Amino acid sequence: MADTNKKIILTGDRPTGKLHLGHYVGSLSRRVELQNSGKFDKINILIADDQALTDNADNPQKIRDNMIEVALDYLSVGIDPGKSTICVQSGIPALHALTFYYMNLVTTARLSRNPTVKSEMAMRGFDNEGLPAGFFTYPVSQAADITAFKATTVPAGEDQEPMIEQAREIARKFNSTYKQDILIEPEILLPDNATQLRLPGIDGQAKMSKSLGNCIFLSDSAEVVKEKIMKKTYTDPTHLQITDPGHVEGNMVFTYLDAFCRDEQFAEYLPDYSCLAEMKEHYQKGGLGDVKCKKFLIKVLEEMLDPIRQERAKWEAKIPEVYDILKQGTARAVEDTNETLEQVRSAMRINYFTDDSIISDWESWISGK
Ligand code: TRP
Repeated sequence: MADTNKKIILTGDRPTGKLHLGHYVGSLSRRVELQNSGKFDKINILIADDQALTDNADNPQKIRDNMIEVALDYLSVGIDPGKSTICVQSGIPALHALTFYYMNLVTTARLSRNPTVKSEMAMRGFDNEGLPAGFFTYPVSQAADITAFKATTVPAGEDQEPMIEQAREIARKFNSTYKQDILIEPEILLPDNATQLRLPGIDGQAKMSKSLGNCIFLSDSAEVVKEKIMKKTYTDPTHLQITDPGHVEGNMVFTYLDAFCRDEQFAEYLPDYSCLAEMKEHYQKGGLGDVKCKKFLIKVLEEMLDPIRQERAKWEAKIPEVYDILKQGTARAVEDTNETLEQVRSAMRINYFTDDSIISDWESWISGK
């Protein structure tokens, strides 16, 4: 029976690049909060390397390199391996087996309608001819991830909503097809404010994304952050002179201040104003220059990024320990997910070698012919 009393989190990332500020506001800081809230019985964070391979089959080295980057990013923002299980997808065989069974519970028509798959196909320029079957079916593998851990809660961005919906459908279909209430229909836990939903890139494009080259990475040095803000961050092209009235909407400096600055930081770094509303008002009226705004933003970002950077440096000096964290986390995940796989096989009556009652079933089948 599905134990619906336990509250279990599964969330994860594809290790295709270092994590950036968009990940931090959208998911990492939330995970740390959830981890420390004490409200969950179990928290699993999956480094989805197999999923990353679905569109990187020709470049496994990229996944290999980024696995350690992502692990370091997790540890440096405060994911605590004592409280959260960090695990590696390819080391968890139950996920592969479940994917294979779930493939039969989903139609290709349903997969082609998945909006996330559609938009990701467009982004990668995959047409039907060039579409890897593994990529096309990754929602099924993600459903396996989620249900294998018996996750009740999946903290993720809105782009993942169709994935969670498919996981719910697959869980429902499994339970009804095999007439057992084993798999749990997960709920998505969306970020709770607009900026967290989607942090734009420094160039002003809708999303901070590695492929768009508009990111501030958690692992960027202070010098790099400064350069990205001073030289590459999109402000207001109509604000030419300091005295010109400026726009704060669509101006990334103010978008980031909205996301990251706290009123107390004005007293310390920019005492001309007492709060962001006051600063914005001055900018809109005219008389406040971009350089001053950008310098303040850098201070605000550094207050957050510097401790992360220092924590990262500590972990970078002990890579073997990080390796052990991943290895132990993966071993724990193997145990949990094998339990689900066994229940799944038993519901399907294909658990031949853990239940030898099939011998007598076969005997009566043969003698009854
Ligand atoms: N698809 C997610 C992403 O691209 C990564 C992921 C894989 C995931 N398995 C998961 C997220 C399970 C939540 C739950 O970021």
